[in-house]
Amino acid sequence: MSSLRVSAPLLDAYLSYFESKRLPFTIPGHKQRASRLDAGLGLVVDSDTPLYGGLDEIKLSNHVLKKAEALAAKLWKADYARFSTGGSTHANQAIILALGKPGDKVALSRTAHRSVLSALVLAGLEPIWLSPQIDAATGVPIGVSVAEFEKIVDQKPIALLLTEPGYLGTLSDLPALIGAAHQREIPVIVDAAWGGHFGFSSTVPAHCIAMGADALITSTHKALPGYSASALLIAQGRFLNLDRVEQSFETTHTTSPAGAPLASIDGCRALLQLRGEELISNLVKSVENFKNEVQSHFNEPIFLNAIDFPAGRFDPTKIVLRASQLGASGVEIEKALQDQLIRVEMADSDTVVFLATLADTKSEFDDLAKVLVPILKSFAQAPRATATSLSWSIVPTVAVSMRDAYFAETELVLAQKATGRISADLIAPYPPGVAVVAPGEVLTQEILEGLATTKAAGVRIAYATDSTLMKYRVVKE
Ligand SMILES: Cc1ncc(COP(=O)(O)O)c(C=O)c1O
Repeated sequence: MSSLRVSAPLLDAYLSYFESKRLPFTIPGHKQRASRLDAGLGLVVDSDTPLYGGLDEIKLSNHVLKKAEALAAKLWKADYARFSTGGSTHANQAIILALGKPGDKVALSRTAHRSVLSALVLAGLEPIWLSPQIDAATGVPIGVSVAEFEKIVDQKPIALLLTEPGYLGTLSDLPALIGAAHQREIPVIVDAAWGGHFGFSSTVPAHCIAMGADALITSTHKALPGYSASALLIAQGRFLNLDRVEQSFETTHTTSPAGAPLASIDGCRALLQLRGEELISNLVKSVENFKNEVQSHFNEPIFLNAIDFPAGRFDPTKIVLRASQLGASGVEIEKALQDQLIRVEMADSDTVVFLATLADTKSEFDDLAKVLVPILKSFAQAPRATATSLSWSIVPTVAVSMRDAYFAETELVLAQKATGRISADLIAPYPPGVAVVAPGEVLTQEILEGLATTKAAGVRIAYATDSTLMKYRVVKE
């Protein structure tokens, strides 16, 4: 039984579709009968129904999507909300296309996800990079300082784009940054892909809209229990033109949105509204208990904790293991966990990130602890100094605009001959999908060596034309 159904019009529409008799002569072509053709294909597609002709009539005469989006806007106390089936990737594109015109500049944190950079190429906007502050004790980025933003305001950015929380759960001093931007009437767009649960319990930070941000993008399939690639875009009309946001959203979204992701966003909204405090505070408690249990076997602090950071600037649901504190390799720990059928969200030399969500209970945390403790004991040595990950430490050297490099004539050169050349590729260890080099930036010795070392440590290097890194795609001279 679904108790959310009465409070979630799209979820109700999805369930009602399968409860009612139907004879579709419309898309989707599987007509929920593909199991007649093949049992496996049927398992995959027969529970699919689209928005048009599924959750609503083909002419959208019942307005169920609009009703559900209005409920989301109300919950986040915003002027505007849209549901996306294209992930935060699409929601980032939609908002960024609505900001200005080709040639305009935007200030953004270097910790931005590649979807933000790709959106800048699409929109023709030029980045003014802001470097994150790095916490000396833990080596992790702790957001952009107001001073870093104020250093570049004379370059007249038309927007400030932030990634909050960052991949490791830390946050900038958002109220101060938003205040500094708004003083100059600059809108603040926050990619909160990992922060969908923020603001719905006193045990986690407030969401960025409550802190005054102009747009919030979140993946409802990350911290929240939504369908893969479902996402939410929330916006305020004070500094943003919402008609343009709407136009950009539709320009970049599929014209055939699947019903399940949309219905799941509505369900996640209702879940946060009705049970957010209870579920999130339980998760925070479970994560705390889990970390205490694992920590009790070791002397050095092996997790990132809220007390490592200024108040309110760390997501307490985040489990980030500091492999360096055990003198161990995060990638080796990941392999040992995989051998026991446990998958983690991300591992590099120094860190392992476990994603815990509202769908985890005490029993999952107990199971993880039981497997993790002996693995960590088997790897533990003397602590090693934390090397700030390449993704957080690169200060880019921009040679030509990102868009010019993206469309330039290019060639592949051997890695040994790539130093000093201009990259045509965006190259990012994945996760976290943060660019080490973007199109138009110089491939320095530091970047080339850093990428080679990161790859050798077993991290996947994404988006390079030659994924072996023997060659690099560069702008032709
Ligand atoms: C900060 C950030 N923004 C955006 C995205 C893209 O999200 P999605 O996979 O929902 O498109 C990611 C994905 O990992 C991310 O980490």
